[in-house]
Amino acid sequence: MLRLPLPDATRRPETGSARRPIRSYVRREGRLTPAQRQALTLCWSRYGLDVHAPFDAQTVFGRRAPLTLEIGCGDGVNLETLARRFPEEDFIGVDVYRPGLGALLRRLVPSPLTNLRLYAADIMDVLEAALPETCLDRVLIFFSDPWPKRRHHKRRLVAPPLLDHLARVLRNGGRIYLATDDAGYGAAMTASFAADSRFGQLVVRRNDPVALRVPTRFERRAQRRGVDVHDLQVTRIRSPVQG
Ligand SMILES: C[S@@+](CC[C@H](N)C(=O)[O-])C[C@H]1O[C@@H](n2cnc3c(N)ncnc32)[C@H](O)[C@@H]1O
Repeated sequence: MLRLPLPDATRRPETGSARRPIRSYVRREGRLTPAQRQALTLCWSRYGLDVHAPFDAQTVFGRRAPLTLEIGCGDGVNLETLARRFPEEDFIGVDVYRPGLGALLRRLVPSPLTNLRLYAADIMDVLEAALPETCLDRVLIFFSDPWPKRRHHKRRLVAPPLLDHLARVLRNGGRIYLATDDAGYGAAMTASFAADSRFGQLVVRRNDPVALRVPTRFERRAQRRGVDVHDLQVTRIRSPVQG
């Protein structure tokens, strides 16, 4: 049996940039179960992408198809559903939480997918080091950690540095789908995109089951608590340099 080293979400690519002290997540590696660890070890060579290698869709998937990136895919329930529903499209999930990725890989063992790949890494590193310009058709960011306390707002992922990257990697007309159960974060996301001329056609919808989202445990938790889910859809506007 071939055993591969587990992906290390903490190893940072050499981008030359200064080390970022503020992260949008807290490491919770202790909860990796033996079964998840085994799935990661056995399946990573098939599904895992290396943040240190430039991404090329043709090389990875053997074709050019519409490409969706889910940021913070957690245990991949939404990502797997989409990949099975749209076999003619390709999907990439990114998360630093290896137990979640391990849970996804466990489900893929009996029923493999050819149109799905994963990064076990910080999305900012993936964007800085791996993804080329205009390579994405869709970006999904569902239930990003809200960091509700004011002193923690600086940890929120959906903020101008991420928008700079998304403006680069999304094709013209590409879409970003976001959902959050935190009203304050929802308002901040809306304000960030509204203030950025590279994005437009903002549609704000409440408790609308977006076609590209299946309920995850975070959504179900919001429903149990009677908390509104805020959906945003944003379009990358054509820019002169993208032609
Ligand atoms: C609240 S969970 C939501 C997971 C999933 N979207 C869902 O709805 O079930 C947020 C996820 O984002 C991941 N995350 C937070 N910051 C991240 C980052 N900078 N890069 C990659 N993943 C990140 C966390 O590890 C966590 O799995």
